[in-house]
Amino acid sequence: MLDRSTLPLLAEALARLDAGFSDLPPFAQQLDAARVREALFALADRLRDNYPYPHPLYAGQMLKPPHPAARLAYALAMFLNPNNHALDGGRATSRLEREAVAELAAMVGFSTHLGHLTSGGTIANLEALWVAGRLAPGRVVLASQMAHYTHERISSVLGLPFESIAVDALGRMDVRALAARVERGDVGCVVATLGTTSLGAVDPLHEMLPIARAHGVRVHADAAYGGYFTLVDELAPEARAAFAKTQEVDSFVVDPHKHGLQPYGCGCVVFRDPSVGRLYRHESPYTYFTSDELHLGEISLECSRPGAAAAALWATHRVLPPVRGGEFAGSLASSRRAALALVERLRRSGDFLVPIEPELDIVVYAPRASSARAISALSRRVFDEAARRDLHLALVTLPTAMLGAGVEADAETTTCLRSCLMKPEHEAYLDEITARLVAAIAATRG
Ligand SMILES: Cc1ncc(COP(=O)(O)O)c(C=O)c1O
Repeated sequence: MLDRSTLPLLAEALARLDAGFSDLPPFAQQLDAARVREALFALADRLRDNYPYPHPLYAGQMLKPPHPAARLAYALAMFLNPNNHALDGGRATSRLEREAVAELAAMVGFSTHLGHLTSGGTIANLEALWVAGRLAPGRVVLASQMAHYTHERISSVLGLPFESIAVDALGRMDVRALAARVERGDVGCVVATLGTTSLGAVDPLHEMLPIARAHGVRVHADAAYGGYFTLVDELAPEARAAFAKTQEVDSFVVDPHKHGLQPYGCGCVVFRDPSVGRLYRHESPYTYFTSDELHLGEISLECSRPGAAAAALWATHRVLPPVRGGEFAGSLASSRRAALALVERLRRSGDFLVPIEPELDIVVYAPRASSARAISALSRRVFDEAARRDLHLALVTLPTAMLGAGVEADAETTTCLRSCLMKPEHEAYLDEITARLVAAIAATRG
């Protein structure tokens, strides 16, 4: 299952990198190869205790294996271990980071930008809300009820009041509720989630923007999971209309470590107005002295950051540029087709209900039963039976009202099954996935 064929490439690239330092006197790190071997073998044994994330039969949580180019580039950069805080810690990788981030800003449609990589979506969102709070101190942050749970926590860390806005039947922010709340005043920023974590629902950014602008409210897009779908034309018209407005938001977060084929530790925040860089101004008597060029630590809340993450993203962009009509965009379109095809098969089987039409590539479904509690119990059993058949799913809890009138509401929430079909191989694997799902539900009945 795990690709080993690309490892010789790493040795070749490493020799090329090493040649750049051939003027230095010979030097080799001390290494007790026998102990390292022992540790690595013990580690390999421990790592077997994982779900098979890279395999298409892993169709559960939001997990996608890094591209081989990303893995190799990260490993290559690790031999130097640059730190992208300042240019003397990571000169080459700071430039790679600025180039890769510029490519993401271009994907969003920003004609000007300031941005950088972060350790993940949470810190990227924290920076966006921190800037919002600095520009409108004490004002309320709004996000939908289905927004990522960290927005409320981030707001509390920043000392900003937070309120959630109701969602419609598809899990998208209810724009009438937003308008009513914004009109009451005191709102500093509204978060549009472009691809919610549980359902992949896309908030109607195109309708939220005019409401926010009419009241001087900042708009931040949390597209940590869904951001790359802006490259895909084959979306439902509402989702397409939302993504068509990304260039108008004030800040945008996308996680290369979700859909962007990167190892964990790679989020990204970009601001449309580069002048927000002034808010980051600080003194650092020990770092910024090697160059007048911008040090990324001058525009980032985190200090040390891995240059290897920038190297991996930059190299991946060389292989798969994040542009419309490219191979990468095609692979996202394939994930979306896989989601729609799975829905069709589940409905045709008669065994499952699909309460909400997927907008991106996350499918939420449940075994058919008459009541919320019966559905929850069956979902858990199908989850276990599927795992016994090497098909790994996820579970999600939804308000029972979202399952429609046909389900007796004997509990406020219902546990359903959830599959993020993020891997390009999922589409070709649908027969196998459906067959195992059908076998799993049959086993719960037998
Ligand atoms: C929409 C959204 N925002 C933010 C996050 C948090 O990102 P991270 O886990 O990289 O901190 C997630 C994670 O799934 C997410 O789906």
